[in-house]
Amino acid sequence: MPPPSPAATPAPAEGSVTRPAVVRVRDLVRTFGEVRALDGVSLDVQPGIVYGLLGPNGAGKTTLIRVLATLLRPQSGSAEVAGVDVLADPTTARTRIGLAGQFAAVDEYLTGRENVAMVGRLYGLSPAEARRRTQDVLERIHLTDAADRQVGTYSGGMRRRLDLAASLVGRPQVMFLDEPTTGIDPRSRMDLWELIEDLVEAGTTVLLTTQYLEEADRLAQRIAVIDQGRIVSEGTADELKDALGGAVLEVAVGEDDRAAATEVLERVGGDPVTRDPARGRLRIPARDGSQTLLAAVRALDDAGVRTSDIALHRPSLDDVFLAVTGKPVEPTPAANAEVDVEDPDATASRAARRGRRPSRRSRG
Ligand SMILES: Nc1ncnc2c1ncn2[C@@H]1O[C@H](COP(=O)(O)OP(=O)(O)OP(=O)(O)O)[C@@H](O)[C@H]1O
Ligand SMILES: [Mg+2]
Repeated sequence: MPPPSPAATPAPAEGSVTRPAVVRVRDLVRTFGEVRALDGVSLDVQPGIVYGLLGPNGAGKTTLIRVLATLLRPQSGSAEVAGVDVLADPTTARTRIGLAGQFAAVDEYLTGRENVAMVGRLYGLSPAEARRRTQDVLERIHLTDAADRQVGTYSGGMRRRLDLAASLVGRPQVMFLDEPTTGIDPRSRMDLWELIEDLVEAGTTVLLTTQYLEEADRLAQRIAVIDQGRIVSEGTADELKDALGGAVLEVAVGEDDRAAATEVLERVGGDPVTRDPARGRLRIPARDGSQTLLAAVRALDDAGVRTSDIALHRPSLDDVFLAVTGKPVEPTPAANAEVDVEDPDATASRAARRGRRPSRRSRG
C-alpha cells in the first residue's frame, strides 16, 4: 500500500518534469560551539528518487539528516519533509519519515522480529497490524530465517538490514539513510543497494549519505557534495563530472620525480595537482583534453621527469570529490555501538555528554 500523499500538493503541469520537492531545506544553520556543522544549507529533493549526500568526515551530513529527522533543532533556517514543517510540527513529520542511522539502532537482547514489531507499536500500529507488517518487511529484507534469533548474534550487515526494516514498518514517504552500507561486506552491500532500489520503485524517496562514490554513482539520481557545512556542488553524477571540465590527466611518476612533476603539471594545467591516495598518481583537470596531454608530455620531458604512465580519463566522482573538497575519499569504518533515540532532548543531552560520537578505529 502506498503511503498517503501530502495533502494539497498541486498536480504538476502537463509535460513538466519537476515535481514539488518532497524535502525542502532552506538556509539551515547548526553550530556546535565554534563548529558550523551546517553553514547555510539549502536543497530540494524531488519525489521518487535517491538523493545522495556526499562529503568527507565531519562535513555535516549526519547533522543535516538529524535535523530533517526531527532529532536536532537548527539555530536558523527551515526544513520541510513530505509537506510538513519539521521544526513547527515534528510529531506529524515523524509519521512520514523513516531513519536508519549511521550506527544501527537495534536492541541486542530482543530478536529481529521483536525489534521490528516494537518499532511498529511505537508508530501506533495495533499488535496484529504490527505483526503483519513485521513479517512483511522481514521478507522484503530477506531476514526471515534469522528473525527469531537474538540480535546479539547478528552480523553487522544483518543489523543494518534490520535497522532498515524497522524504519520501513511505518511505511514512510521519505527514508533517511545515513551511510547505510559503511563497513559491511560487499555481498550485504549489494543486497542493501537492491533493497534501496526496490524502495524507490515502490514510491519512497530516499536521502542517502555515503562516502562511497561508487554507491552514489550507482544509486543516486542527484548528488549534493557537502563540505564544512556547505553544499559545494550539486547535480546529477554526469553534471558533476562535466563541471570539472571534460577530462583528467593522470601521471604516474617515481617518488624522486614527484615534486618536479607537480611543479610542471601545475604550470601546464593551471590547477593544483591532487594525488590519488590509492595509487599515488598525480592528477590534474585537463581542460583542453589532448592538448593538455601533449603539453604535459613535452613539459615533463623538457624538465627531465621520467613518467611510467600518462593518460587522460573522464573524471570520476572521486575527481569531483577531490576537486570540490580538496580531500580524498576516506570511508568511515563500521560501528554498531551507537543507538539513536526518538526523543530529541535525550539525544541532544547524550550528544553533549559525549561531545563527539565514538572514534572509529576498526577499519571495515
Ligand atoms: N553533538 C555534537 N557535539 C559537538 N559537535 C558535533 C556534534 N555533532 C556533530 N558535531 C560536529 O559537527 C561537524 C559535522 O559533523 P557530522 O557528524 O554532521 O559530520 P558527517 O558529515 O556526518 O561526518 P562523518 O562522515 O564522519 O559521519 C563535525 O565537526 C562534528 O564534530
Ligand atoms: Mg555522519
